[in-house]
Amino acid sequence: METQRRHELKPILVFDSGIGGLTVLREARLIMPERSFIYVADDAGFPYGGWAEAPLKDRILSLFAELLVRYEPEAVIVACNTAFTLAGADLRAAFPHMHFVGTVPAIKPAAERTRSGMVSVLATPGTVKRAYTRDLIQSFASQCHVRLVGSENLARMAEAYIRGENLDDAAVLAEIEPCFVEQEGRRTDIIVLACTHYPFLANVFRRLAPWPVDWLDPAEAIARQARRIVPLVENEDWAHGHDFAVFTSKRPGFSTIRLLQGAGLRLETMAS
Ligand code: DGL
Repeated sequence: METQRRHELKPILVFDSGIGGLTVLREARLIMPERSFIYVADDAGFPYGGWAEAPLKDRILSLFAELLVRYEPEAVIVACNTAFTLAGADLRAAFPHMHFVGTVPAIKPAAERTRSGMVSVLATPGTVKRAYTRDLIQSFASQCHVRLVGSENLARMAEAYIRGENLDDAAVLAEIEPCFVEQEGRRTDIIVLACTHYPFLANVFRRLAPWPVDWLDPAEAIARQARRIVPLVENEDWAHGHDFAVFTSKRPGFSTIRLLQGAGLRLETMAS
Protein backbone atom coordinates (compact mmCIF):
# COMPACT_ATOMS: atom_id res chain seq x y z
CA MET A 1 0.00 0.00 0.00
CA GLU A 2 1.38 3.39 -0.96
CA THR A 3 1.94 5.86 1.80
CA GLN A 4 -0.53 8.74 1.70
CA ARG A 5 1.25 12.12 1.70
CA ARG A 6 0.07 14.81 4.02
CA HIS A 7 -1.27 17.09 1.33
CA GLU A 8 -3.41 14.19 0.19
CA LEU A 9 -4.75 13.46 3.65
CA LYS A 10 -8.35 14.40 4.05
CA PRO A 11 -9.32 16.44 7.09
CA ILE A 12 -11.38 15.33 10.05
CA LEU A 13 -14.55 17.34 10.57
CA VAL A 14 -15.53 18.00 14.19
CA PHE A 15 -19.11 19.17 14.69
CA ASP A 16 -21.06 20.75 17.53
CA SER A 17 -23.80 23.32 18.04
CA GLY A 18 -21.29 25.74 19.55
CA ILE A 19 -17.88 25.74 21.17
CA GLY A 20 -18.42 22.54 23.21
CA GLY A 21 -16.81 20.33 20.57
CA LEU A 22 -13.51 22.14 21.16
CA THR A 23 -13.13 19.95 24.26
CA VAL A 24 -13.13 16.94 21.92
CA LEU A 25 -11.02 18.60 19.23
CA ARG A 26 -8.24 19.16 21.79
CA GLU A 27 -8.03 15.42 22.50
CA ALA A 28 -8.43 14.43 18.85
CA ARG A 29 -5.47 16.54 17.85
CA LEU A 30 -3.26 14.95 20.48
CA ILE A 31 -4.06 11.50 19.26
CA MET A 32 -4.13 12.26 15.50
CA PRO A 33 -1.26 14.73 15.13
CA GLU A 34 -0.80 14.10 11.43
CA ARG A 35 -4.37 15.08 10.53
CA SER A 36 -5.85 18.48 9.83
CA PHE A 37 -9.19 19.43 11.33
CA ILE A 38 -12.21 21.48 10.35
CA TYR A 39 -14.33 22.62 13.25
CA VAL A 40 -17.98 23.32 12.43
CA ALA A 41 -20.30 25.00 14.92
CA ASP A 42 -23.96 25.32 14.05
CA ASP A 43 -24.18 28.36 16.27
CA ALA A 44 -27.12 29.70 14.23
CA GLY A 45 -29.08 26.81 15.79
CA PHE A 46 -27.56 27.03 19.29
CA PRO A 47 -28.63 25.81 21.78
CA TYR A 48 -29.72 22.44 20.41
CA GLY A 49 -30.91 21.32 23.86
CA GLY A 50 -34.35 22.93 23.63
CA TRP A 51 -35.26 21.98 20.03
CA ALA A 52 -38.13 19.64 19.16
CA GLU A 53 -36.74 16.42 17.70
CA ALA A 54 -38.13 16.41 14.14
CA PRO A 55 -37.00 19.89 13.04
CA LEU A 56 -33.60 19.47 14.69
CA LYS A 57 -33.04 16.18 12.91
CA ASP A 58 -33.98 17.76 9.56
CA ARG A 59 -31.66 20.66 10.21
CA ILE A 60 -28.69 18.42 11.04
CA LEU A 61 -29.24 16.16 8.02
CA SER A 62 -29.49 19.02 5.55
CA LEU A 63 -26.48 20.76 7.06
CA PHE A 64 -24.41 17.60 6.69
CA ALA A 65 -25.52 17.14 3.07
CA GLU A 66 -23.82 20.47 2.43
CA LEU A 67 -20.80 20.02 4.70
CA LEU A 68 -19.79 16.64 3.30
CA VAL A 69 -19.84 17.86 -0.29
CA ARG A 70 -18.00 21.04 0.56
CA TYR A 71 -15.23 19.66 2.75
CA GLU A 72 -14.94 15.95 1.79
CA PRO A 73 -13.67 14.87 5.19
CA GLU A 74 -12.10 11.51 5.93
CA ALA A 75 -14.36 11.14 8.97
CA VAL A 76 -16.74 13.17 11.09
CA ILE A 77 -16.69 13.43 14.85
CA VAL A 78 -20.15 14.50 16.01
CA ALA A 79 -18.94 16.11 19.24
CA CYS A 80 -22.44 16.79 20.48
CA ASN A 81 -24.57 14.43 22.54
CA THR A 82 -27.75 16.31 21.71
CA ALA A 83 -27.17 15.92 17.97
CA PHE A 84 -25.80 12.41 17.91
CA THR A 85 -28.35 10.75 20.20
CA LEU A 86 -31.02 12.18 17.91
CA ALA A 87 -29.57 11.95 14.42
CA GLY A 88 -26.57 9.58 14.57
CA ALA A 89 -28.39 6.61 13.02
CA ASP A 90 -29.99 8.82 10.34
CA LEU A 91 -26.65 10.38 9.45
CA ARG A 92 -25.08 6.95 8.99
CA ALA A 93 -28.04 5.81 6.88
CA ALA A 94 -28.08 8.97 4.75
CA PHE A 95 -24.30 9.04 4.16
CA PRO A 96 -23.25 5.38 4.22
CA HIS A 97 -19.74 6.05 2.86
CA MET A 98 -18.79 8.45 5.63
CA HIS A 99 -17.37 7.41 9.00
CA PHE A 100 -19.28 9.04 11.83
CA VAL A 101 -17.77 8.91 15.30
CA GLY A 102 -20.48 9.69 17.81
CA THR A 103 -20.77 11.22 21.24
CA VAL A 104 -23.26 9.62 23.60
CA PRO A 105 -23.62 9.87 27.37
CA ALA A 106 -20.82 7.83 29.00
CA ILE A 107 -23.27 5.71 30.97
CA LYS A 108 -21.47 2.41 30.41
CA PRO A 109 -18.08 3.52 31.81
CA ALA A 110 -19.83 5.29 34.68
CA ALA A 111 -21.73 2.11 35.59
CA GLU A 112 -18.46 0.17 35.51
CA ARG A 113 -16.66 2.65 37.75
CA THR A 114 -19.22 3.63 40.36
CA ARG A 115 -18.67 2.19 43.83
CA SER A 116 -21.89 3.42 45.39
CA GLY A 117 -24.06 2.38 42.43
CA MET A 118 -25.39 5.95 42.27
CA VAL A 119 -24.69 7.66 38.95
CA SER A 120 -25.97 10.97 37.59
CA VAL A 121 -26.04 12.13 33.99
CA LEU A 122 -25.83 15.88 33.44
CA ALA A 123 -27.00 16.73 29.93
CA THR A 124 -29.18 19.03 27.86
CA PRO A 125 -32.96 18.61 28.10
CA GLY A 126 -32.87 17.08 24.60
CA THR A 127 -30.34 14.36 25.48
CA VAL A 128 -32.21 13.46 28.65
CA LYS A 129 -35.41 12.87 26.65
CA ARG A 130 -33.85 10.66 24.00
CA ALA A 131 -34.80 7.02 23.60
CA TYR A 132 -31.08 6.45 22.93
CA THR A 133 -30.20 7.58 26.45
CA ARG A 134 -32.88 5.40 28.04
CA ASP A 135 -31.59 2.42 26.02
CA LEU A 136 -28.04 3.02 27.26
CA ILE A 137 -29.26 2.91 30.85
CA GLN A 138 -31.26 -0.23 30.28
CA SER A 139 -28.41 -1.99 28.48
CA PHE A 140 -25.49 -1.00 30.69
CA ALA A 141 -26.64 0.44 33.98
CA SER A 142 -29.73 -1.48 35.01
CA GLN A 143 -28.00 -2.42 38.28
CA CYS A 144 -27.36 1.27 39.12
CA HIS A 145 -29.52 4.10 40.32
CA VAL A 146 -29.26 6.59 37.46
CA ARG A 147 -30.48 10.16 37.86
CA LEU A 148 -30.94 12.05 34.58
CA VAL A 149 -30.58 15.80 34.93
CA GLY A 150 -31.49 17.97 31.94
CA SER A 151 -30.14 21.47 32.34
CA GLU A 152 -31.85 24.31 30.48
CA ASN A 153 -29.04 26.79 31.05
CA LEU A 154 -25.62 25.21 31.43
CA ALA A 155 -24.61 25.12 27.75
CA ARG A 156 -25.31 28.86 27.52
CA MET A 157 -23.50 29.42 30.79
CA ALA A 158 -20.46 27.54 29.49
CA GLU A 159 -20.39 29.77 26.40
CA ALA A 160 -20.69 32.86 28.62
CA TYR A 161 -17.91 31.62 30.90
CA ILE A 162 -15.62 31.10 27.94
CA ARG A 163 -16.44 34.63 26.78
CA GLY A 164 -15.05 35.81 30.12
CA GLU A 165 -18.39 36.66 31.73
CA ASN A 166 -18.81 36.07 35.46
CA LEU A 167 -21.13 33.25 36.43
CA ASP A 168 -23.28 33.44 39.50
CA ASP A 169 -22.28 30.55 41.80
CA ALA A 170 -25.84 30.09 43.06
CA ALA A 171 -27.16 29.83 39.49
CA VAL A 172 -24.59 27.17 38.57
CA LEU A 173 -25.22 25.27 41.78
CA ALA A 174 -28.95 25.23 41.06
CA GLU A 175 -28.20 23.46 37.76
CA ILE A 176 -25.89 20.77 39.20
CA GLU A 177 -27.48 20.20 42.62
CA PRO A 178 -30.12 17.70 41.38
CA CYS A 179 -27.20 15.43 40.38
CA PHE A 180 -26.28 14.91 44.02
CA VAL A 181 -28.48 12.18 45.43
CA GLU A 182 -28.30 10.65 48.88
CA GLN A 183 -30.33 7.54 49.50
CA GLU A 184 -30.19 4.80 52.12
CA GLY A 185 -26.71 5.79 53.23
CA ARG A 186 -25.33 5.86 49.67
CA ARG A 187 -24.36 8.94 47.68
CA THR A 188 -23.78 9.75 44.03
CA ASP A 189 -20.09 9.22 43.33
CA ILE A 190 -19.91 9.80 39.58
CA ILE A 191 -21.48 12.40 37.30
CA VAL A 192 -21.38 11.98 33.55
CA LEU A 193 -20.73 15.22 31.65
CA ALA A 194 -23.09 14.37 28.82
CA CYS A 195 -22.82 17.65 26.97
CA THR A 196 -19.51 18.63 25.42
CA HIS A 197 -19.89 22.18 26.70
CA TYR A 198 -19.76 21.13 30.33
CA PRO A 199 -16.07 20.19 30.68
CA PHE A 200 -15.34 23.92 30.27
CA LEU A 201 -17.08 24.35 33.64
CA ALA A 202 -15.55 21.34 35.37
CA ASN A 203 -13.48 23.46 37.76
CA VAL A 204 -16.52 25.50 38.76
CA PHE A 205 -18.50 22.29 39.29
CA ARG A 206 -15.73 20.86 41.50
CA ARG A 207 -15.62 23.99 43.60
CA LEU A 208 -19.40 24.11 44.11
CA ALA A 209 -20.08 20.38 44.49
CA PRO A 210 -21.84 19.45 47.75
CA TRP A 211 -19.39 16.55 48.01
CA PRO A 212 -16.52 15.29 45.87
CA VAL A 213 -17.47 13.09 42.91
CA ASP A 214 -15.81 11.95 39.67
CA TRP A 215 -16.85 14.12 36.72
CA LEU A 216 -16.67 11.89 33.69
CA ASP A 217 -15.57 13.67 30.51
CA PRO A 218 -15.67 11.35 27.49
CA ALA A 219 -13.51 13.53 25.20
CA GLU A 220 -10.47 11.27 25.29
CA ALA A 221 -12.50 8.13 24.66
CA ILE A 222 -14.15 9.78 21.64
CA ALA A 223 -10.75 10.75 20.26
CA ARG A 224 -9.47 7.18 20.73
CA GLN A 225 -12.51 5.86 18.88
CA ALA A 226 -11.80 8.27 16.01
CA ARG A 227 -8.16 7.10 15.93
CA ARG A 228 -9.33 3.50 15.50
CA ILE A 229 -11.29 4.55 12.42
CA VAL A 230 -8.79 6.94 10.86
CA PRO A 231 -5.62 5.11 9.85
CA LEU A 232 -2.36 6.39 11.30
CA VAL A 233 -0.11 7.86 8.63
CA GLU A 234 3.55 7.71 9.64
CA ASN A 235 6.28 10.24 8.86
CA GLU A 236 4.01 13.20 8.51
CA ASP A 237 4.56 16.67 9.89
CA TRP A 238 2.27 18.36 12.29
CA ALA A 239 -0.65 19.41 10.10
CA HIS A 240 -2.56 21.85 12.26
CA GLY A 241 -1.44 25.00 10.51
CA HIS A 242 -4.25 24.22 8.09
CA ASP A 243 -7.03 23.90 10.64
CA PHE A 244 -10.02 26.21 10.41
CA ALA A 245 -13.46 26.77 11.91
CA VAL A 246 -16.82 27.46 10.30
CA PHE A 247 -19.70 29.06 12.22
CA THR A 248 -23.10 28.81 10.57
CA SER A 249 -24.19 32.21 11.93
CA LYS A 250 -21.26 33.68 9.98
CA ARG A 251 -20.79 36.12 12.82
CA PRO A 252 -19.31 34.65 15.98
CA GLY A 253 -18.48 37.25 18.61
CA PHE A 254 -15.09 38.73 19.24
CA SER A 255 -14.36 36.51 22.25
CA THR A 256 -15.26 33.39 20.27
CA ILE A 257 -12.89 34.45 17.51
CA ARG A 258 -10.18 34.98 20.12
CA LEU A 259 -10.90 31.53 21.55
CA LEU A 260 -10.58 30.01 18.08
CA GLN A 261 -7.32 31.81 17.47
CA GLY A 262 -6.03 30.48 20.77
CA ALA A 263 -6.96 27.00 19.55
CA GLY A 264 -5.08 27.62 16.30
CA LEU A 265 -8.22 27.76 14.18
CA ARG A 266 -8.61 30.25 11.38
CA LEU A 267 -12.21 31.41 10.89
CA GLU A 268 -13.64 30.67 7.47
CA THR A 269 -17.08 31.62 6.22
CA MET A 270 -19.27 29.11 4.48
CA ALA A 271 -19.94 30.86 1.19
CA SER A 272 -23.61 30.69 0.35
N1 DGL B 1 -22.62 20.51 23.14
C1 DGL B 1 -23.90 19.91 22.96
C2 DGL B 1 -23.94 18.50 23.55
O1 DGL B 1 -22.94 17.84 23.69
C3 DGL B 1 -25.14 20.65 23.41
C4 DGL B 1 -25.24 22.12 23.55
C5 DGL B 1 -26.57 22.67 23.05
O2 DGL B 1 -27.58 22.66 23.78
O3 DGL B 1 -26.58 23.10 21.91
O4 DGL B 1 -25.01 18.01 23.84
